[in-house]
Amino acid sequence: MASVPSLASTVQQRLAEGLSAALPEAGSADPLLRRSDRADFQANGILALAKQLKGNPRELATKVVGAIPANDVLKEIEVSGPGFLNITVTDAAIVRTLAARAADDRLGVPFDEAAGTTVIDYAQPNVAKEMHVGHLRSAVIGAAMVEILEFTGEKVVRRHHIGDWGTQFGMLIQYLIEHPHELDHKAEGADTEVSGEEAMSNLNRLYKASRALFDSDEEFKTRARARVVDLQAGDEQTLALWQRFVDESKIYFYSVFEKLDMDIQDPDIVGESGYNDMLAETCRLLEESGVAVRSEGALCVFFDDIKGPEGNPVPLIVQKSDGGFGYAATDLSAIRDRVQNLKASTLLYVVDARQSLHFKMVFETARRAGWLNDEVTAFQLAFGTVLGKDGKPFKTREGETVRLVDLLDEAIDRATEVVREKNNEKIALTEEEIVENGAQIGIGAVKYADLSTSAVRDYKFDLDQMVSLNGDTSVYIQYAYARIQSIKRNAGDAVPTAHPELELAPAERALGLHLDQFGAAIAEVAEEYAPHKLAAYLYQLASHLTAFYDQCPVVKADTQEQKENRLFLIDLTARTLQRGLALLGIQAPERL
Ligand code: ARG
Repeated sequence: MASVPSLASTVQQRLAEGLSAALPEAGSADPLLRRSDRADFQANGILALAKQLKGNPRELATKVVGAIPANDVLKEIEVSGPGFLNITVTDAAIVRTLAARAADDRLGVPFDEAAGTTVIDYAQPNVAKEMHVGHLRSAVIGAAMVEILEFTGEKVVRRHHIGDWGTQFGMLIQYLIEHPHELDHKAEGADTEVSGEEAMSNLNRLYKASRALFDSDEEFKTRARARVVDLQAGDEQTLALWQRFVDESKIYFYSVFEKLDMDIQDPDIVGESGYNDMLAETCRLLEESGVAVRSEGALCVFFDDIKGPEGNPVPLIVQKSDGGFGYAATDLSAIRDRVQNLKASTLLYVVDARQSLHFKMVFETARRAGWLNDEVTAFQLAFGTVLGKDGKPFKTREGETVRLVDLLDEAIDRATEVVREKNNEKIALTEEEIVENGAQIGIGAVKYADLSTSAVRDYKFDLDQMVSLNGDTSVYIQYAYARIQSIKRNAGDAVPTAHPELELAPAERALGLHLDQFGAAIAEVAEEYAPHKLAAYLYQLASHLTAFYDQCPVVKADTQEQKENRLFLIDLTARTLQRGLALLGIQAPERL
């Protein structure tokens, strides 16, 4: 594992040396380097510096350029405009840096041995309820952040905070007691496993039936409420039935996660019930420290800046006046557990933006209680709403929430059609491969659509657009990858080899410079919790490849060296695409 500094950072370094040699009075000024269309890079830092030193920017710039020590990275530095530097690097420097990346399994991306521990709360569906597109977003964005953070060296603990506790279980359990065969499986006794679909349809039926009874039958309502008390008191028979609901739901959750090609592990599922033993103590600690106060019998935390529509304070209710604990007490207990037992330095919550006020209050409460502080911080990676094509929250025509499974199946079907249509004698996919690729492309398309816009923005769920071969889609990126693999197969015995002595065509330089930014892109994505920036990076990489492919023949290159060098460039491109897609949870089929 050898991390490879990017060319941008090398250039930055050279400029900084020139700056401090030419202008020692400037201290360690930032040359403000960025990629540019004019040259490879542009540095604007001297303008501000000139103002500060009351000098002529062009003169200072010329002086800085003169003071840069001789090196083999910079080909040309031109002072332009009011005092910018336009910087071109040598072709050899590009190829050498890329060769160093190619020699490393991690493509030169640094691994921070001393990184912290992030506990990430994501993929948190609710027991006995259908998963919807909101749960999809949390799962997809969360899984990408897990991979990205781990890739940078962060220790990551996954927590699936499933909704497995609450008063609704009184109604469900009571109904099951009175209708004992409602959760039995058709397949029971047979060898066939219960499908997620069957599990969910059982739960759904039971949920609807018990809800209907609860709303219409006062006596059932009374029995259901008494059952809540039994559940909270830990009555054995009641708990055993509760566990059946949890187990049945997990069969369903796992089937959806499997379809999503997502690895969810049982020990990481620590639902709301997992913190029951801590709730009373959490309340006691908050009350004793004065962070929470009794108000009309409830235990509340107040905030100066959080007010209702009439200007009245809106508190966080930690314990209700009837003694019951709610969502907030659970989240505060989970914070204590994650900080004190899991030794987290960062808590990351991938949760719908509509819960932002809740988390704002919970985090502030935890800070006042001392559970969060400068060393241990919490952040909600909030995501927006999934909209239908009409721009309204995604619903079926009948106004019901769309079943996640139906959506995924439809995406897979559409993608399979795309693969089938594109198939020909040259690609020669078997039916089995068409189906396999269709699944990878369909699921990839759903994930990519979710990941490619900034999480907090709403986005439109549009399957036609998602599986399109053109535009900013995963399919486009997957085709770029498969195209490279096909070129490599047709390259005969030529082996990808870096040739720094060759002159590069403009499309090769553009591709190379973008490849070199992979590590910087990953660092930014991890730092900002912004997977959409990785999606953008990969889409640009695929676009650079398309331009390269149009302008630079590989198999029919002019010389053997050029062929090898081009193979080297596209091979590194393929590896970068594959790695980047994998971090987003998306597979790259070898042949498409
Ligand atoms: N189960 C909740 C829902 O479906 C999300 C849980 C979010 N995580 C948390 N620690 N509160 O909305």
